[in-house]
Amino acid sequence: LQPQADYSLRHHNSFGFDVRAEYFVCTQGTEQLRDAVQWARDHDCALHVLGDGSNTVFSSDVDGLVLKIGARQIDSEKLSAQAYRVIADAGVNWHALVEHCLATEQYGLENLAMIPGSAGAAPIQNIGAYGIELAQLLDSVEIFDTTSGQCRQLNAAQCQFSYRHSIFKTRAARNWIVTRIHLNLSAADKPCFHYAALQQSLQAANIQNPASKDVFDHVCKIRSSKLPDPKVLGNAGSFFKNPIVSAEKMAQLLARYPQIAHYPEAEGRAKIAAGWLIEQAGWKGYRRDAVGVHDNQALVLVNYGGGTGQQIATLANDIRVSIREKFDVELEQEPVLVPADNSPACTMR
Ligand code: EPU
Repeated sequence: LQPQADYSLRHHNSFGFDVRAEYFVCTQGTEQLRDAVQWARDHDCALHVLGDGSNTVFSSDVDGLVLKIGARQIDSEKLSAQAYRVIADAGVNWHALVEHCLATEQYGLENLAMIPGSAGAAPIQNIGAYGIELAQLLDSVEIFDTTSGQCRQLNAAQCQFSYRHSIFKTRAARNWIVTRIHLNLSAADKPCFHYAALQQSLQAANIQNPASKDVFDHVCKIRSSKLPDPKVLGNAGSFFKNPIVSAEKMAQLLARYPQIAHYPEAEGRAKIAAGWLIEQAGWKGYRRDAVGVHDNQALVLVNYGGGTGQQIATLANDIRVSIREKFDVELEQEPVLVPADNSPACTMR
């Protein structure tokens, strides 16, 4: 195993930032992963594990070893007449997995079509869209513990999923690398389409009883109309989480802003559409240097070409301050800043 030195990460992050890794290696399978971890240890290098780089903001060149998970096998097991267990290596592209499962009549992932990133990164932020969260479909996650050199399997409860969050984002996971995910899928073509924008799109096409393929097609259509394709315009999807506020805070906001887009949460709390807040604060379509706020979705920050992670980080901070001042609401950033924040070095993005 010989990592490459001074390696451009431009094609390994969805913002397309042209930063360099001191060392870079792409591993296939657990043995190579073990070797790469050992290499980093022998060379006294920090280890940064990378999936498809769609949730990462590289703010400068990266010291140490950037390890990309390359393993891309998909296995499937029929558990009963109605149930499948699909096991995907961490390096499988997420959308390719959704397409593969649909084509082989293993249903459940349709609503999560076109989410950029790898299968291994999916449980870390508990990806979700159009009424479904990964947590609802996940059986377990296999990890490699770089401290002990052992592999472990965590069941869904142990993953501690919540909205865009899991144990993999905590200190407990700082030495773990996700190697495989196990999903519970169904042989029954019974899609979920209660999400308002999805329902509207299906109705507009006169589809009363959608099949999973219809849901897949319409999710792709909605996403393509709102969200920029990272291959064309660098971005990392939603840049902030939708903030969850107390019932009291929500009542105060509604008194001042009756139109505020929000959704009910447990115990009277509410999840506010951060895109609404950012648009109301005047940021939608804003451009500064080579970075900006997307024209169609204010929650998405974009690199028009030649921008830097630092410019994105500064813009994000200005947006955060402005939302705090206008609405007294805190926005939490979704993508991870590398190497400048203190998140676990050994988790996969
Ligand atoms: N809105 C605005 N202006 C905007 C954007 C949104 O006013 O510029 C308001 C509208 O009222 C709209 C509402 O916000 O109806 C919700 O917008 P949208 O349906 O686009 O969803 P979102 O809350 O902005 C979330 C996820 C997306 C996911 C969609 C669909 C988060 C942080 N984002 O976005 O996930 O695709 O719902 O389920 O939860 C991602 O995580 O990267 C991501 C793209």
